[in-house]
Amino acid sequence: MRIIITGASSGLGEALALHYATKENQLVLIARREDRLSDVAQRCRDKGAEVETIVADVNDFVRMKEIGERLSLQPIDRIILNAGVSVGHFGEVTPFEDFHRLFQTNFLSVHALLEPIIPKLIHQQSGEVVFISSLASLFSMPTSIAYSSSKRALNAYAEGLHYQLKPHGVTVMTILPGFIDSEMTQKNCFKMPFFMSTEKGIKRITNAIERKKIRYAFPFRFSLMIRILTLLPQSLRDKIVNFTNYKKGS
Ligand SMILES: NC(=O)c1ccc[n+]([C@@H]2O[C@H](COP(=O)([O-])OP(=O)(O)OC[C@H]3O[C@@H](n4cnc5c(N)ncnc54)[C@H](OP(=O)(O)O)[C@@H]3O)[C@@H](O)[C@H]2O)c1
Repeated sequence: MRIIITGASSGLGEALALHYATKENQLVLIARREDRLSDVAQRCRDKGAEVETIVADVNDFVRMKEIGERLSLQPIDRIILNAGVSVGHFGEVTPFEDFHRLFQTNFLSVHALLEPIIPKLIHQQSGEVVFISSLASLFSMPTSIAYSSSKRALNAYAEGLHYQLKPHGVTVMTILPGFIDSEMTQKNCFKMPFFMSTEKGIKRITNAIERKKIRYAFPFRFSLMIRILTLLPQSLRDKIVNFTNYKKGS
């Protein structure tokens, strides 16, 4: 299989690259940090995979489109849109610059890369597109307005793309993880409910991909709690959010 992974230099992207590093697979790994990416690539080669690395900032949209065009010259079996950033804001108004950066990286960059790839997938009449969204997309806390809204925009994009590509034999999947050990979560200074090891998280994600789950939110109990929260009357939701927000800030 030819598998493209963005954000492959650390965390979930690195673990996904290593998971798919087998003799049968050709990997294309994209990220900015050249040293980290080369290290991941070497470990994937050691496991028998053929690996191409592309050192690029996904926020360079012109470059992303060029990369998408070049990658489309060969068959694409799976593309995992994983590159992402988060930033929390505690007791402050979200600066516009953070909003801009998060929307660029977590959302707009995705279509810059996919625009030239979508016609290729349609032409192939096969392939898989996997979006790494977040449980945070289902419920927006005052501390994560920019992150949650960028991921919710991603969900909407993925939903539309699913309907566009399904008739052409292309599977579009959206994964909504809770808290998983990575560089991103190591920066968090608040309690993370249902925190999961990278290995466990990657096992869940790769199983969902194998089963071609169109939408997969996990861990189940955390995702269920969020779903129930969204169904509660607004006054009750306000009380719960105020309480958890007070706890985070304390
Ligand atoms: N860990 C969690 O609990 C969790 C939960 C829900 C969703 N997610 C999502 O999972 C994805 C991976 O995050 P992670 O937890 O594995 O965090 P991470 O270890 O910080 O990994 C983020 C990856 O994205 C890449 N990246 C960030 N900005 C980029 C840019 N401008 N251009 C190119 N690559 C960029 C980083 O590479 P470079 O810095 O080398 O460019 C890195 O490889 C993200 O989309 C995140 O929102 C994570």
